[in-house]
Amino acid sequence: MAILITGGAGYIGSHAMVEFLEAGKELVCVDNLSNSKETSLQRVKQITGKEVKFYKVDLLDIDALEKVFLENNIESCIHFAGLKAVGESCSKPLLYYHNNITGTLNLCKLLSKYNAKRIVFSSSATVYGKPASVPITEDFPLSTTNPYGETKLMIERILKDLWASDNEWSVSILRYFNPIGAHKSGLIGEDPRDIPNNLLPYVAQVALGKRECLSVHGNDYNTHDGTGVRDYIHVVDLAKAHLCALERAEKITGVEYFNIGTGKGYSVLDVVKAYEEATGAKVNYKIGPRRPGDIDECYANPEKAYKILGWKAQYNLEDMCKDSYNWQSKNPNGYEE
Ligand code: NAD
Ligand code: UD1
Repeated sequence: MAILITGGAGYIGSHAMVEFLEAGKELVCVDNLSNSKETSLQRVKQITGKEVKFYKVDLLDIDALEKVFLENNIESCIHFAGLKAVGESCSKPLLYYHNNITGTLNLCKLLSKYNAKRIVFSSSATVYGKPASVPITEDFPLSTTNPYGETKLMIERILKDLWASDNEWSVSILRYFNPIGAHKSGLIGEDPRDIPNNLLPYVAQVALGKRECLSVHGNDYNTHDGTGVRDYIHVVDLAKAHLCALERAEKITGVEYFNIGTGKGYSVLDVVKAYEEATGAKVNYKIGPRRPGDIDECYANPEKAYKILGWKAQYNLEDMCKDSYNWQSKNPNGYEE
C-alpha cells in the first residue's frame, strides 16, 4: 500500500518525503516539475538511502494520473501540488484557479474511484484574511484577499462537501503559517525561481552576498517595532505534522482543520537580527514602503494540533536561520548546477 505525494519535488513536499521515507512508508510521487527540479528527488534519495517512485505527471492530465493509480496500490494522499505565488495569482488568476482547483478535482475523483479516501491537504494561514486578533485559532472567520488564497479556501470547501456526500472520507486540512529553513543536511531547501518574494529566501541571498540589500516592507505597522510579525515554522517540523495528520486520518473519518505554526510571532527586524546572530553574516536592509495586501500580525494558536495530533514544533528561530543559511551557502544557485 502506498501514499501518493503530489508536488513531492517541491520545497515542502521534498522535506515531507524524507520524513515519510525515514518512517518506513512506501511513497509514489507525482509532480509536473513546473516549480521544481528532479534533482530534489535525487537528494531525497541521497538523504534517506531509499528509492522514490516518481511520475512526471500533471494533475490536470487525468488520464496520466489514472495510470499512476492503476500501476500502484494507493491508499491515501498528501496533496502539496499547487501554484503558490500570491502576486502571480493576481496577474494570472485563471492559471491559478485552473491549476489548483481542477488539479484537486481530478485528484479527488481518482482517490474516490480507487477507494483511497484519505487526504492531507496543504492549506495556508492566508485563509484567515486579515485576522481581527492574534493568536489565531481554527474557528476564526475565513476570508481571502487574492486568487491564490481563494483557491485554498475553495479547496477546503470542496473537501468538506466531498466528505458530506461520502462519510468514508478522511480529510485533514493543515493551515501552514510561514515555513522556512531547510533539512539539516543542506541537500534540500527552498529554491525560488526568480527574485524571492518571501522574506527568508531574500534574507538568505543578501546574507550570502547574492543580493545587495533587503527592503523591509514598511515599519509603520501596529507591532512592537513597526515591521510585520509572522509565525515562522521550520519546514522539517511542518513535514512531521503531515505524518501525524495521516496517522490520525488512518484512525478516523471526517474533516479536521489544524493550524501548523509555532505560536510565536517575530517581526521582520527580529528575523534579520536572528539571522545575523545565527550565521555571523551581515544582512543589509533598508526600510521601504508597505507591500500591498500585507497585514500587521499573523501567528497561530497551535494547541489543537498538539491536543489532537500530538504534534508540536521543536525547532526555534535560530535553528531555522542556521539551516536556511546552510542550504543556501551549499547551494548558492539552488538545484541549478
Ligand atoms: P512548491 O512550489 O515548492 O511545491 C509545489 C509543487 O507542486 C511543485 O514541485 C510544482 O512543480 C508542483 N505542481 C504545481 N502544480 C502542479 C500540477 N498541476 N500537477 C503536478 N504538480 C504540480 O511549493 P511549496 O512551498 O512546497 O508548497 C507546497 C504546498 O503548500 C502548496 O500547495 C502551497 O500552496 C502550500 N503552502 C505553502 C506555503 C509556503 O510558504 N511555502 C505556505 C502555505 C501553504
Ligand atoms: C506570503 C503570502 C501568503 C503565503 C505565504 C507563504 C502575501 C501577501 N502573502 O505570506 O499568502 O501563504 O507568503 O507563501 O504575499 N517582507 C519584507 N521584505 C521582503 C519580503 C517580505 O519586509 O522582501 C516582510 C513582509 O512584509 C511580511 C514578512 O516579511 O511582513 C513575511 O513576508 P513573506 O515571507 O512574503 O510571507 P507572508 O507575507 O506572511
